[in-house]
Amino acid sequence: MSAGPGIRQNISCKLIRNYSINKEIFRLDFTWPGSAPQAGRFFMIKPKRSSVFLGRPFSAAGWTGGTGGEPGSIRFFIARRGGGTEELLNMHTGEEAELSGPLGNTWKEFLPGPAGQAGKNAGGSADSGGEKKIALIGGGIGVAPLLALGTELPPDSFDFYGGFRSASFCLEDVAARSVIIASEDGSEGEKGRIPDFLDPAKYAAVCACGPEAMLKAVAARSAAGGVPCFVSMERRMACGVGACLGCTVKTKNGNRRCCADGPVFPAGEIVFDD
Ligand SMILES: Cc1cc2nc3c(=O)[nH]c(=O)nc-3n(C[C@H](O)[C@H](O)[C@H](O)COP(=O)(O)OP(=O)(O)OC[C@H]3O[C@@H](n4cnc5c(N)ncnc54)[C@H](O)[C@@H]3O)c2cc1C
Ligand code: FES
Repeated sequence: MSAGPGIRQNISCKLIRNYSINKEIFRLDFTWPGSAPQAGRFFMIKPKRSSVFLGRPFSAAGWTGGTGGEPGSIRFFIARRGGGTEELLNMHTGEEAELSGPLGNTWKEFLPGPAGQAGKNAGGSADSGGEKKIALIGGGIGVAPLLALGTELPPDSFDFYGGFRSASFCLEDVAARSVIIASEDGSEGEKGRIPDFLDPAKYAAVCACGPEAMLKAVAARSAAGGVPCFVSMERRMACGVGACLGCTVKTKNGNRRCCADGPVFPAGEIVFDD
């Protein structure tokens, strides 16, 4: 098992923006005095004024560096689920939360050529891929870590696929060569599920995050096309740093910790539920 992320910081950060995208999805920006987290990494977040015992994990969706002595900021897209997310979504501008991170690994550890650092992860990295682009595929709130990856990739080096139940969200600033949207109710883009619109043969690698059934379908399609696929997995987390073994991801090489060995894994290693 890997030792997990390099730098961990536990910092009180002020909420500088809480913006409702729709009834269930919110954008929260916090001050962030730390270094750039790198796409794929996540933070355990807990409001200072909180009734929940543990922070909750959220992927960084983007960040800005500080200027002129001002701290930078970090951006999250958060879907309402239960008590922990409800508390975060009810935070007011100026309130503080504890951000613990950046935690976990990065997409770029796996990606080929100028997009990443191919070869660092033996057995999991994509080959050169020539001139081919990379496909980023997000399902629902799973777009968050892929938005961050999009900011790190060379312009026009990737296509962005977004799958939604109904209207899309959070894709306004994506600088992809193409943005392909599918909705299950047909209200926007293609009607259907987003994995059905992916032709992996067009790509050097596929990166995906979203519901596990979607990841399984993307992984199967990529494997059939012989294209490396990397998925960001979600598990409920307690410690976030590899100590409690509460976030098991089943792989062909045994159980791994989502927080410290992931959250990004080569899709071919994952044993998806039937
Ligand atoms: C690495 C990582 C990155 C994530 N990034 C984001 C993000 O960017 N935006 C976002 O909105 N969410 C993200 N999540 C999911 C988020 O952590 C959960 O939605 C949140 O912890 C729910 O907390 P809660 O107290 O509101 O809900 P709870 O009361 O804890 O749970 C409410 C419901 O959600 C289910 N649930 C809770 N956590 C998870 C989970 N991790 N996976 C699957 N089901 C779960 C529970 O089983 C329950 O049915 C991420 C999770 C991980 C592991
Ligand atoms: S959450 Fe504790 S080991 Fe992953």
